[in-house]
Amino acid sequence: MAKLNAAAVLPLCVVLAFLAGQSAAGRYYSDPVQNKVRTEVEKAIAYNPSVGPALVRLVFHDCWVNGCDGSVLLDKTPTDGTNTEKKAVQNIGLAGFEVIDTIKQKVGVATSCADILVFAGRDAADILSAGNIFYTLTGGRKDGVSSSASFADANLPAPTFGVDALKNNFAAPGHGFTTEELVVLSGAHSIGVAHLSSYQDRLGADATPIDPDFQAALIKVTPPDLLKKGQNPTVPNNARDASSAFRKDAAYDPVALGVNPKRGVLDNSYYHNNLVNKVLFESDWVLRTDGEAAGKLQEYRDNATAWNLDFIDAMKKLSGLRAQGKTLEIRKNCRLTNQQYYY
Ligand code: HEM
Repeated sequence: MAKLNAAAVLPLCVVLAFLAGQSAAGRYYSDPVQNKVRTEVEKAIAYNPSVGPALVRLVFHDCWVNGCDGSVLLDKTPTDGTNTEKKAVQNIGLAGFEVIDTIKQKVGVATSCADILVFAGRDAADILSAGNIFYTLTGGRKDGVSSSASFADANLPAPTFGVDALKNNFAAPGHGFTTEELVVLSGAHSIGVAHLSSYQDRLGADATPIDPDFQAALIKVTPPDLLKKGQNPTVPNNARDASSAFRKDAAYDPVALGVNPKRGVLDNSYYHNNLVNKVLFESDWVLRTDGEAAGKLQEYRDNATAWNLDFIDAMKKLSGLRAQGKTLEIRKNCRLTNQQYYY
């Protein structure tokens, strides 16, 4: 057999290290469970790209309410009946549940729904950011047995929140997030969609400052009167991801703004948009009114890498919020508790 010299071994190692990161071969992580999650998330996003943002949002909406305990996935519990977190006003549009169900089928009973959820959200963030946002996570989370719509609404921030309410919500016991982390995590609104009801307050004459062309473009595609007719359509969170016609109406030129024009990418474009008043929610815009938050908006607009790194840290911290419930288990079915009664 031919001897390998050092000059030949080094490039070989580089190639092998590269291959080790290729999920197609099922070798993305050293943990086989996390590899299975990864494979399923890739398939799900390839089939339906809107699932990617939904999985990222699920991490926030699960971990913010009683810690990362999979409670957002429950359809029914012994104490809450069917009035679970899914029914909360602030959980409008939540999706991705079928992907979690499919993954649960693949990984089996030993892995908690809470672990699956944070792994899937992590993989979605990696895929949507083209590998710029990647972090490692360990397992061991357990699933809760309660899930209350009103408790979720009491804990999740509303898009109509002012900056003090947002800061208090992030700093609250059980959360413990700084103003900087609030600004960092809000950057997730570079992806996904929102319902008209979530930004209707931005379409009136007395709205918090919003670019007039952007506002007119929103009113054109989603006239607020639709709500009275029982319709609640969606638009992309990011003008970058809207149709060319919308971008023209909104005078939104990603290139002129310094934004990568590729649609659907999780990146720092949110900060470019916010600083020209082209963001959907009041809770996005109000970050401009706080000295510290405004400074961070500028920093992340100007330094994409700094945002990637800080977003990684904040998502890891979010995914590590401990489950608060007294009774914890590993659910067999992510939508149902294992027992009908708990003593
Ligand atoms: C700071 C407070 C936040 C508020 C007030 C807020 C509010 C909202 C609202 C109202 C929507 C649209 C829901 C709809 O109408 O369908 C939304 C979408 C979304 N949010 Fe947030 N959010 C916040 C923070 C976060 C955080 C921390 C993350 C993730 C780390 C996040 C990720 C997302 C994503 C990815 C979407 C799009 C989901 C999809 O397309 O399925 N948000 N958010």
